[in-house]
Amino acid sequence: MVKSLIREIPKAELHLHIEGSLEPELMFELAERNRISLPFRSVEEVRKAYDFTDLQSFLDIYYAGAKVLLQERDFYDLTAAYLKKAHAQKVVHTEIFFDPQTHTDRGIPFATVIAGIRQALLDGQKQFGISSRLILCFLRHLSAAQAMQTLEQALPFKDWITAVGLDSSEAGHPPKKFTEVFDRARAEGFLSVAHAGEEGPPDYIWQALQELQAARIDHGVRCQEDPELVSHLIKNQIPLTVCPLSNVKLRVFDTMQDHNLKQLLDLGILVTVNSDDPAYFGGYIEENYTAVQQALGLSDDDIYRLASNSFQSAFLDGKDRQKFLALLKPFSAPETRR
Ligand code: HPA
Ligand code: ZN
Repeated sequence: MVKSLIREIPKAELHLHIEGSLEPELMFELAERNRISLPFRSVEEVRKAYDFTDLQSFLDIYYAGAKVLLQERDFYDLTAAYLKKAHAQKVVHTEIFFDPQTHTDRGIPFATVIAGIRQALLDGQKQFGISSRLILCFLRHLSAAQAMQTLEQALPFKDWITAVGLDSSEAGHPPKKFTEVFDRARAEGFLSVAHAGEEGPPDYIWQALQELQAARIDHGVRCQEDPELVSHLIKNQIPLTVCPLSNVKLRVFDTMQDHNLKQLLDLGILVTVNSDDPAYFGGYIEENYTAVQQALGLSDDDIYRLASNSFQSAFLDGKDRQKFLALLKPFSAPETRR
């Protein structure tokens, strides 16, 4: 029952880096199309290289892979391929991160990146009925001044972007480095989220909330080290976008059995399950749900709560949120179905 429930229940995905959905097959196709030479001879060789020891060891390969993305059409194909997979796994709403600096630093115009992604999102809505939002992430290993420049490049496209976020190397790059950038972004009407408490300490989660006014915390699994923070997350129902396969691949937890997702859920934190960089971590959203279900013994009720939390945590207006939550009704236990 649980397995078919995981497959069939409508879900929102809230933590997905579009560059992290670049499958090796598409990487080779784009490398050929753009006449770029890759340091790998085959798809198998690429997959073998995906043996990470920590966040940085992944980021080095992830940024190298993104170099095959040059033209608007490449960003379109990347996004279209993700949407097709997400739709097949009953993702009905997705909030996608993109990292413009990974591309603009290689001389690719901001407009090229966003136009390709945007067109694929519009076509995905038409073809699959999948609803979406875009979140612009600043690379925290770069300077606040560079983030501010990127924000300025984004302003002409502001109607296409719902929120700003913060990703890349966490250690040594505290959220407060970007307070001014996020202040400006909020003044321009963007919502905000931030990666925090993946490898960084609970204090970075506090900073993301207090300095950046983050509406959600991406990862956030290290919150458990600070009981006061746990109480704060529960009291204010601040969502955590947790990515189980990522956490094990990047050694945040040694094994899936060690993951704290079930504990966070039982404490009453608004936890969601997401895929982060599915092409690199061995699975999309369904594989993430399945991995935690099996390792932590999640019940049907837990799966239902995770799906419900995903819509509760999404950047939706009241009417749309209710519409999505209503889709869950047929999947709840008979006594609660009204
Ligand atoms: N953490 C930080 N930066 C990232 C990640 C992540 O999990 N994925 C892509 N960029
Ligand atoms: Zn992430």
